[in-house]
Amino acid sequence: MIKLDYNNLFKIDPSHGLSEDELNSYKDRIAEFLEKIEKRDQGFYKILDNPEEIKTFANEVKNNYEHIVVCGIGGSALGATCLKEALPNSGKLIVLDNIDPQLIHEIDQKLNYEKTLFIIISKSGTTIETTSQYKYFRQKVEEKNLKVNKHFVFITDPEKGILRETANNENIPVFPIPENIGGRFSVLTAVGLLPAALIGINIDKLIEGAKKMCEKFLSENFEENLPYQIALTQYLINQKGKNIHVMMPYSHKLFKLADWYRQLLAESIGKNIDTGITPANALGVTDQHSQSQLYNDGPNDKLITFIEIADFKVEEKIPGSITFNQLIDIEKKATEESLTKKDRPNQTITVNSICEESIGGLFLLFEGQIAFLGEFYNINAFDQPGVELSKQITKNNVKQLS
Ligand code: PA5
Repeated sequence: MIKLDYNNLFKIDPSHGLSEDELNSYKDRIAEFLEKIEKRDQGFYKILDNPEEIKTFANEVKNNYEHIVVCGIGGSALGATCLKEALPNSGKLIVLDNIDPQLIHEIDQKLNYEKTLFIIISKSGTTIETTSQYKYFRQKVEEKNLKVNKHFVFITDPEKGILRETANNENIPVFPIPENIGGRFSVLTAVGLLPAALIGINIDKLIEGAKKMCEKFLSENFEENLPYQIALTQYLINQKGKNIHVMMPYSHKLFKLADWYRQLLAESIGKNIDTGITPANALGVTDQHSQSQLYNDGPNDKLITFIEIADFKVEEKIPGSITFNQLIDIEKKATEESLTKKDRPNQTITVNSICEESIGGLFLLFEGQIAFLGEFYNINAFDQPGVELSKQITKNNVKQLS
């Protein structure tokens, strides 16, 4: 169960929050927006099938490796990190989404190459960070006389690109990223599912949760359509001049979900010079002692979305006092109340518990929300011309040096 409570937005001064009338005036636009989304021919909500091929491969090979290393960046890495941090797993996964030489060196020193599987994830097959990591680790594998096709798996475009070509020529296992799914919307394809399956996460349940949320996303009924509700509150609050969105889970395990969402919001909605919401992450309760001062008394330019967990599935008692479960709940409510008192817009997403199903649901919730948000602004939420430009400049500069 995942639900949204935006009542605090009605409790604050309407110049910062919302009135019922404002909200009601957009309630009947879901069908129109769904039609527009459909016309954009995006696959993120249409690919929620039984991931049989991924499961079979993962089951066959997962016990052969001590380390699974994902080489990828942006949408090709953030989903795997989020899954690894949120859900119980074998602890074998390393997500290498940077090219910091010290980091590369440390990982090289740590790996037992004979027992390592590298998953090279790049939809385009040309992202320089990922191709450089691939070349580096491939050379290491070859120097150790290990078979490349036993130590590498590719996840890339279904037909084209250098990775696809190499996989075909060298019999390297390869999984597709469907043509109509962009990086940041790809977590429920092999991009997120293969690393997850290899570390023992139940990917059927992830898909099950996403499917349930997808039904809500496609519902024309406002009360049912959670992705639309969140898109609408975010849009309306942004119209009141709140250009920053803070996602603040009261759950250590969901901090990386906020990171995944940060990319989704920034890269999808930051467009055309005048459109964009700056995402920020905060962690409850930790950041109460770091960010709360700014949120309470600094510029009133943010919407804060809390994520709370209804049932942590464990209970720990503080000697002579209440439980940690009670304390975290009390602290979240205190933060919420103090912000509301100061007319600071805030809302809460409640997740029943952290499990495969709820994480799958949250992925689809936010992907659907961003798709709707794009339609509110009448922009294409699915391209990233700014990212492409800097990729191109980097490539040109590297060419001149090599
Ligand atoms: O969301 C996106 O499209 C980007 O963040 C990409 O995922 C990122 O740039 C990596 O691209 P690729 O998968 O082509 O290597």
